[in-house]
Amino acid sequence: MSFVSILDSDNGKFSYLIIERPEALNALNANVLRDLDMTLEHLRRDVEQDRIRCIIVRGAGEKSFVAGADIAQMKDLDPAGAEAFGKQGNDVFLKLESFPVPVIAAVGGYALGGGCELAMACDFRICSDTALFGQPEVGLGITPGFGGTQRLARLVGPGMAKQLIYTARNIKADEALRIGLVNAVYPADELYAAAEKLASAIAANAPIAVRACKKAINEGAALPIDKAVECEEKAFASCFRTADQQEGMGAFLEKRKHEPFANH
Ligand code: COA
Repeated sequence: MSFVSILDSDNGKFSYLIIERPEALNALNANVLRDLDMTLEHLRRDVEQDRIRCIIVRGAGEKSFVAGADIAQMKDLDPAGAEAFGKQGNDVFLKLESFPVPVIAAVGGYALGGGCELAMACDFRICSDTALFGQPEVGLGITPGFGGTQRLARLVGPGMAKQLIYTARNIKADEALRIGLVNAVYPADELYAAAEKLASAIAANAPIAVRACKKAINEGAALPIDKAVECEEKAFASCFRTADQQEGMGAFLEKRKHEPFANH
């Protein structure tokens, strides 16, 4: 049995990746992280065969995206064990962050601690009006462990990240939207339809170009602007002479709708 499942869309080129541990509000223990890693490898093959062009990450059940790293499993770790657990989480979240196609976090309910960190490793986040975000770790006597100190600061700025992390205060969907942690908030029963609409829109665009945009944005983010724009130059160049570039530009010039993009 795996704690992470894949649900393919009926007609779009995207799949759900579902964290499946509802009895613990989808809390991340070492087995869930192992299964997440294996599932990403499986999905990578689907990308290579152009079966999927986007992923939606969600939690099982109505109540929670992911309620954090597993506190019961962490309680008796020694420093070496904690470092290894942190590295396991960071390694798999880095793999998710650099996954070749876009990954949307659809946050329905709790995204606390490791859940907020998982959502932040995705390309962007949308959530239900019932969602709750936070890094409550200092209230448990620890720091965030799966990238929270780094990704939250990059997403919402160091001042806001420090305030949220030092106070361990959880925030509701409207505040997450205001500070830029999520892109949009939906009524709970509309969240996944909205995620699917976004995934379908992404999947309908030229996949080589979309993947190149993701790579350029991710790689450029850590570089000074003069080096960062070089990432874009390479991304831009990689699209030319592809069939999709010829078709996309040709259709515009011929004033017709382009054919579905073929990924070559
Ligand atoms: N680690 C391990 N187990 C967790 C968990 C976590 N992070 N979050 C929830 N669970 C478990 C609970 O222990 C409980 O298990 P039980 O039924 O065997 O007792 C089950 O999930 C349901 O949680 P419960 O607390 O009863 O639900 P609730 O609706 O009353 O509260 C939360 C929900 C999310 C507010 C609460 O579970 C919570 O505060 N969880 C921890 C959040 C956190 O600090 N995360 C960061 C960890 S570093």
